[in-house]
Amino acid sequence: MMDDINAPPFSGLGGSVLFGQNYFSRAQIVVNQGGTSSGKTYAIEQVLFCLACQTAKLVITVVAQDVPNLKAGALRDALNIYQQSEALQNAMKNFNKTDRVFEFTNGSIIEFKSYDNAQDAKSGKRDYLFVNEANGISWDIYHELALRTRQRIFIDYNPNTGFWVHEKLIGQPHVQLIISDHRHNPYLDQSVRDKIESLKKDDLELWKVYARGLTGKITGLIFNNWYLCNQIPDDARLIAAGLDFGFTNDQTGCLLVYRQNGELWVNELFYETGLTNADIADKLKACGVNKTTEIIADSAEPKSIEDLKRMGWHVTGAKKGADSIKNSIDILKRYKINVTRTSINLRNELNRYIWRVDQSGKTINQPVDKWNHLIDPLRYVALNKLKVGGEGNKIKSRLPFVPRPRSSAGIFEQMIG
Ligand SMILES: Nc1ncnc2c1ncn2[C@@H]1O[C@H](COP(=O)(O)OP(=O)(O)OP(=O)(O)O)[C@@H](O)[C@H]1O
Ligand SMILES: [Mg+2]
Repeated sequence: MMDDINAPPFSGLGGSVLFGQNYFSRAQIVVNQGGTSSGKTYAIEQVLFCLACQTAKLVITVVAQDVPNLKAGALRDALNIYQQSEALQNAMKNFNKTDRVFEFTNGSIIEFKSYDNAQDAKSGKRDYLFVNEANGISWDIYHELALRTRQRIFIDYNPNTGFWVHEKLIGQPHVQLIISDHRHNPYLDQSVRDKIESLKKDDLELWKVYARGLTGKITGLIFNNWYLCNQIPDDARLIAAGLDFGFTNDQTGCLLVYRQNGELWVNELFYETGLTNADIADKLKACGVNKTTEIIADSAEPKSIEDLKRMGWHVTGAKKGADSIKNSIDILKRYKINVTRTSINLRNELNRYIWRVDQSGKTINQPVDKWNHLIDPLRYVALNKLKVGGEGNKIKSRLPFVPRPRSSAGIFEQMIG
């Protein structure tokens, strides 16, 4: 049992079993593999806050794939933890929003960073390192950071497939593996648990990874034709907005789709539960969507479409049809799809969108009906606004016509004449 000296100072934080496991670990590297919402990120950050308060002048680095990932994940959780703990607020001198650094009165800091490459990761040293969603970070970057970490490394991820953690770390004597899932997180609503468990009927492999935290072999992603971009090019032409209605358990998802140079450019606008139609209208306005912009929406909700139309929005129901899901996927697969870095939820969905597998293990022509509240609106835009033939894959291989020389019947004439 913990004694007073080692006891974490913020029992008021409400630590889960994962918190204890991480806090009392003496391993050099603590690997937190787990299903979704098991409380990994939250617990590790609580540990980091405790460490920063307990020891003066510590440098703690939290790293994620990029800044949007930090903002939507580790940094947001850290701010929640901070706001919920008075003890923590008393120990904190300042939060530097621009540089994303928590500064403590005892001189410790927790910095939130992302690194472009291994060279970039060579800058700075630290006492503790937290690698959030480590499968988004290359071994090279991790390795450079690890070399410059004095005390302990925490790692977390959902194990979609094996990667460098499995190949190079797990099984080593100085590495502790903790596997968790939503059942280890006492702070979760039943509806979230039910949603996670319902993966079982959709896809066993997804269930294994996201509901049980076991290493999967999630292969066969439907879209492998998408790439990250920093912004929508200035000369890209807006095709339409896509909108999927949700409410209690499902998010309402909205995005804008543009075209430039035969490629699609997509930017997520919002992704939230609990939005009424009036809220959606406010969100559209706040995101700068014009009332003349066509919004292709889920036609299963005619009442919501009519509501928005009466508020002056240019909303059209997505075309329906027996094969509309398969057709729209086929259309989208013909394009190079550029997704803005800030479209975190769309990126997550694209990384999880797979074909269903039947009882015998055979892939069927139906996507798993989960994590598609931004992919569906993207499909709606494809159905209504993009040609079935697609122009994204038009290969301009035909040479320009050159008239045959008339005068000399030389080798050219002999060859093709
Ligand atoms: N100690 C806690 N006190 C209060 N709420 C908590 C605590 N731990 C977890 N939660 C809640 O559970 C949610 C899920 O936790 P967290 O984001 O840490 O899970 P995760 O395992 O990192 O999930 P993912 O793998 O999807 O990133 C948090 O957003 C928070 O609302
Ligand atoms: Mg997490």
